[in-house]
Amino acid sequence: MSSSSEAELIHMFKGIPFTIRSSPELLKCLDAFDAREDDVLLVSYPKSGTHWLAGIITKLYNTQVTLTSPIEFGDISKLEELNKLSSKRIIPTHLDYNMLPPNFKKKKCKMIYISRNPKDTAVSMYHYYRDNPNLPTIDTWTAFFDLFLRGDVVCGSWFDHFLSWEEHENDKNILFLFYEDMKKDLPKIVKEITLFLGLNINDSDIQDICKKSSFSEMKNDTEKENSDPNHTVCALTSNRKLIFRKGAVGDWKNHFTPKQNRRFEEIFNEKMKLSKM
Ligand code: A3P
Repeated sequence: MSSSSEAELIHMFKGIPFTIRSSPELLKCLDAFDAREDDVLLVSYPKSGTHWLAGIITKLYNTQVTLTSPIEFGDISKLEELNKLSSKRIIPTHLDYNMLPPNFKKKKCKMIYISRNPKDTAVSMYHYYRDNPNLPTIDTWTAFFDLFLRGDVVCGSWFDHFLSWEEHENDKNILFLFYEDMKKDLPKIVKEITLFLGLNINDSDIQDICKKSSFSEMKNDTEKENSDPNHTVCALTSNRKLIFRKGAVGDWKNHFTPKQNRRFEEIFNEKMKLSKM
């Protein structure tokens, strides 16, 4: 990575770069985390639409649910904090499948994995890095592009992350979603989510939830809030403008040079040759 402050902001755990907001002690203890059968996990590689999905899911329940910050963010006290919650827990995570606390797997907790075109994910992450003091300084898009392809960014390689989860795409307790499908037909995807979560919600309520979850509505809403970064889905910033940036499909075309696109495609085809994507 390119900045002198990288050493202060990033540490490696099991070969994956994490920010110092994820303490090594917490990461070490995650294996012992006590999952509950009714926990719902929202899984994503960063910048794939996690906040969007979280916004939708919390609107689907009419019982009390708590949307926590990502399980891997914080220090050792995080585990106790989560243990103390009496309501149903909606827990986001950017962990790859192999690092997920085994109890979630044993108890067959429901998990929703949201994925996004990695080219748009890279661009979104670039802007996020650029404007976020909690992440190493990035000088140029070209520099970030190389880091992204090498997996030298927070949460590691997009390819490894996606592949680790894709291996489990037929597990009954995991639902796979794509950002682009949500952009295309949100009510259809929300319906799919309600069926997966076993929630009974009529079409008119689904339409209403979709309206309230549009990019502009969510951006406006969060600008009104003054949220504590430790209690938001993204524990790395309280600046909501960094999260609700453009919300578009295909912004990569405004950033990738033709040469970068060719290189990306080559690496994508190589890394993803066993993937169904
Ligand atoms: P862009 O940077 O391309 O705008 P995450 O929540 O995983 O950090 O992902 C952030 C990305 O999701 C940002 O992408 C953000 O704009 C987009 N996003 C957030 N809410 C959205 C919504 N309601 N509709 C579409 N995109 C949304």
